[in-house]
Amino acid sequence: MSAFVTGGSRGIGLALVQAILRENPGSRVVAAARTVSEPLEALKAQYSNRLLVVNLDLTEEASIQDATQATEDFCQGSLQLLVHNAGLMHPSGRGENSITRLDMNSFNKAIFHGTKAPGRKQGLELQTYPLQDNDGTSFCRCQVMATNVVGPALLTKALYPRLKSAGQKEPSKVVAVGAGVASISGNQAGGWYSYRTSKTAMNAFMKNLSIEGARHNVTAFSLYPQMVDTTLSKPYVKGNPYPELRSPEETAERMLELIHSFGMNDSGRFVNIWSRQDIAW
Ligand SMILES: NC(=O)c1ccc[n+]([C@@H]2O[C@H](COP(=O)([O-])OP(=O)(O)OC[C@H]3O[C@@H](n4cnc5c(N)ncnc54)[C@H](OP(=O)(O)O)[C@@H]3O)[C@@H](O)[C@H]2O)c1
Repeated sequence: MSAFVTGGSRGIGLALVQAILRENPGSRVVAAARTVSEPLEALKAQYSNRLLVVNLDLTEEASIQDATQATEDFCQGSLQLLVHNAGLMHPSGRGENSITRLDMNSFNKAIFHGTKAPGRKQGLELQTYPLQDNDGTSFCRCQVMATNVVGPALLTKALYPRLKSAGQKEPSKVVAVGAGVASISGNQAGGWYSYRTSKTAMNAFMKNLSIEGARHNVTAFSLYPQMVDTTLSKPYVKGNPYPELRSPEETAERMLELIHSFGMNDSGRFVNIWSRQDIAW
């Protein structure tokens, strides 16, 4: 099998790359990383033939295209697994606990606009700003939405022909590492405006993809790992609502167990990986 995992530099993504390589002897894995970390380099040295490390910044469309292009030969035209793991709480490292803390890097007008049109007032004027820089490069300044939704959606688009052409009895799988806070009906605490919104939007994207994917033998689902001991969760460990703080390694193992067991009938689901229960939208 060949797999493509985003956010392969650290945390859950790194553990997933490692686990796929270890548990699937014939597998080939693309670890897409914005930063090539030491542990990822060490993994590359260990699995030089089966691991391809590509640079990927999900906020830049050109980077998505380059990363996809770079995998062409390595994946030999087909991809059985795409894991949307890369994610961002907020550039500050903490989610906004009040609407007053929202800024351009959260999800304000920069979701849609790269360049500020001359003479424009502040505010949401969605249709008038171009999504391109002066040199024509598309980008998305709003880091949270770009990293958690827009970039993954465009990456899926770029890799979709290879997912479709995998041509196996088993469907190809697109998996998003989801967040419990994405659940609208389960939202009791508020806060984390942009992270919640982006993760909910990503679930909506995954659900949509599951419908189109059914026509092409591609299954798509979101997996929620509860709280995992990574950089992203560090500021929130004290408030962990679960009895355990999971390690990235055990999380990756469990996720792979589910990924292997899930098929077409599981497409469109949003599931807690430990309880295997569906999470309400
Ligand atoms: N930890 C938890 O408790 C928890 C719970 C629920 C869901 N999740 C989800 O799990 C996923 C992985 O998070 P984690 O906990 O492993 O966090 P992490 O250790 O902070 O890792 C985040 C990863 O995302 C990458 N990334 C950030 N911005 C990027 C960009 N613009 N382009 C490409 N890659 C980018 C980072 O790359 P760099 O190394 O270059 O920064 C890093 O590899 C996220 O989607 C998160 O929402 C985590």
